[in-house]
This record gives sequence, C-alpha cells and structure tokens, in this order.
Amino acid sequence: MKIRNIKFIILLFPFILFGQNKSKKKISFSKDVFPLIQSRCLPCHAVDAENPSMLILENYESMKLGGKHGSPIIPYKVNESSLSFKLKPDPIFGEQMPITKRKRLTPEEIRIIDLWISQGAKKN
Ligand code: HEC
Repeated sequence: MKIRNIKFIILLFPFILFGQNKSKKKISFSKDVFPLIQSRCLPCHAVDAENPSMLILENYESMKLGGKHGSPIIPYKVNESSLSFKLKPDPIFGEQMPITKRKRLTPEEIRIIDLWISQGAKKN
C-alpha cells in the first residue's frame, strides 16, 4: 500500500513541475486579459455607460488612460493597480468589481490579470 502511494507521488511529479511553469507563463493582453474584461466589465465600463468612475475599458488605450482615480494599471506594480485591487474584497476605495456578483472573476482569472500587470501590462 505504501509503495503504491510513492508511485502515485512520482507519477504526479511532472504535473507539479508543469503547474509551476504555468505560473510563469507569458500573459497576452489580447488573448488572455481582454476577453475577461469584455465579458465581465462591459457594458458598465463602456463609453456610453453612465459610470461615475469615468473608466472606459473598451480598449487598451482607454484602459491605460483611466478614470476618476487615474490609471488603473501601474506596470509591474500589482498592489498599486486598481485593475487588480478592485477585483478583490475590500478595495482601497469603492466596491469590489464587478459590482454584479454573478460576473465575479474566479481566483484563477484574477491571477491572470495580476500576472499580466507584473509582466509590465504590455499591449501584447
Ligand atoms: C454592474 C456594473 C459594473 C461592472 C460589471 C464593473 N464595474 Fe467597475 N465600476 C462600476 C461603478 C459604478 C464604479 C464606481 C464605484 C466604485 O469605484 O466602486 C466602478 C469603478 C471601477 C474602478 C475604479 C475607477 C476609478 O478610477 O475610480 C475600476 C478600476 C473598475 N471599476 C474596474 C472594473 C473591472 C476590471 C471590471 C470587470 C472585471 C468592472 N469594473 C466591472 C461599475 C461596474
């Protein structure tokens, strides 16, 4: 029985390594980040939305420009970027995004956004 357990761990080992590689994966704005923004943040953050934050998330340029509290993206600085901390409970100001709970991002999706910011938030 014990030997079987060891075999199981050895079998699992490559997957553990692979999982770590994945966390260092290069995140793409157009393929990984923007689809999340489009499905979860619009239409509330569209040009014609009456959003008091004035933050337009329709494209990379308008995202970087930011809203009432300035740019939501500080490249390489995840904790200072409101695009990151507004997705988590008890943000520095206002509500956790998206306000509508059913559109909330999963921890894995939030990690994608955090990784992208930590990699410089490029238009890639
Ligand atoms: C149901 C509408 C709605 C959705 C969906 C929504 N937001 Fe918001 N957002 C708001 C409102 C209203 C505010 C202003 C109040 C506040 O800051 O809590 C706001 C404010 C913000 C701010 C602060 C901007 C500033 O400069 O003041 C950020 C950043 C933000 N949202 C990001 C997002 C992201 C990222 C998503 C998608 C994951 C999202 N929001 C989805 C309505 C929404």
